[in-house]
Amino acid sequence: MDIAVVTGASSGLGEEYVKYIAKFYPELDEIWIIARRKERLDQLAQKITQVKCRSVVCDITNDEDIAKYQDLLTLNDVNVKILINNAGFGKLGFFDEIETGANAAMVRLNCEAVSVVTNVTLPFMKEKSFILNVCSIASFVPNARMTVYSATKAFIKSFSRALREELKRKKINVCAVCPGPMDTEFLSIADIPPGASKTFDMLPHIKPDMVARNSLKAAAKGRGIYTPHFFFKFYRVLAKIIPHSIMMKLSAT
Ligand SMILES: NC(=O)c1ccc[n+]([C@@H]2O[C@H](COP(=O)([O-])OP(=O)(O)OC[C@H]3O[C@@H](n4cnc5c(N)ncnc54)[C@H](OP(=O)(O)O)[C@@H]3O)[C@@H](O)[C@H]2O)c1
Repeated sequence: MDIAVVTGASSGLGEEYVKYIAKFYPELDEIWIIARRKERLDQLAQKITQVKCRSVVCDITNDEDIAKYQDLLTLNDVNVKILINNAGFGKLGFFDEIETGANAAMVRLNCEAVSVVTNVTLPFMKEKSFILNVCSIASFVPNARMTVYSATKAFIKSFSRALREELKRKKINVCAVCPGPMDTEFLSIADIPPGASKTFDMLPHIKPDMVARNSLKAAAKGRGIYTPHFFFKFYRVLAKIIPHSIMMKLSAT
């Protein structure tokens, strides 16, 4: 059975990935949509007509849930053509004013769970498949007041690039997508209402559907990194040329 797997599919960018995978790959047998909120997954599954969607209710930071996901992969003898590691969250604020638990949970979801889900899924992937890891512009330069979040996204970028080199021998592509701000539930979970951060208010906000559509195309073409929007492509180039000690003054959130 040929499938795609999308984590964080119950809202925002993850939902858009499911819609575009169904549109671009109608030949798939199923799309496995992963998140904790079952009703939201079931609602999405009902909306998608081109490919059957299977709701997999799973907290990807929970070992028992991951073991159940692994069993499902084995029992269904799947061939995973596309893996989208999308689930993630951030928090705005000074490091020492964010709860210890929230900072640790960010590391567990944005770093550890990406590694775990990839480890568990990879044995079910063959050549000509791809992994798309949702990173962020926060990976380009460390961001004060998003200290842990930007560090987790730097992990994803580094992880994606090294894994891409490794998986060339298996002809599996790995692509990191680095979006700027998108108006999704992310912003309220991260405590970023309008006015909370001048940087967030000033930056262009990009549409999740455009990010999903274009990053799927980039990953399928074999690209290793994709940054949507001219403004953020330019920022990425600046971050490579200008010392981070200077860039960090501009990028503080
Ligand atoms: N929005 C932005 O401004 C922005 C910018 C750059 C990068 N990003 C990145 O884009 C990705 C998607 O974020 P979004 O903007 O679409 O935010 P979102 O709407 O809040 O989506 C986050 C998704 O992750 C899922 N999730 C959270 N914890 C989980 C867990 N423990 N196990 C399984 N699923 C979990 C959530 O579902 P449940 O709550 O149902 O589990 C939800 O579906 C994230 O990696 C984020 O860092 C976002």
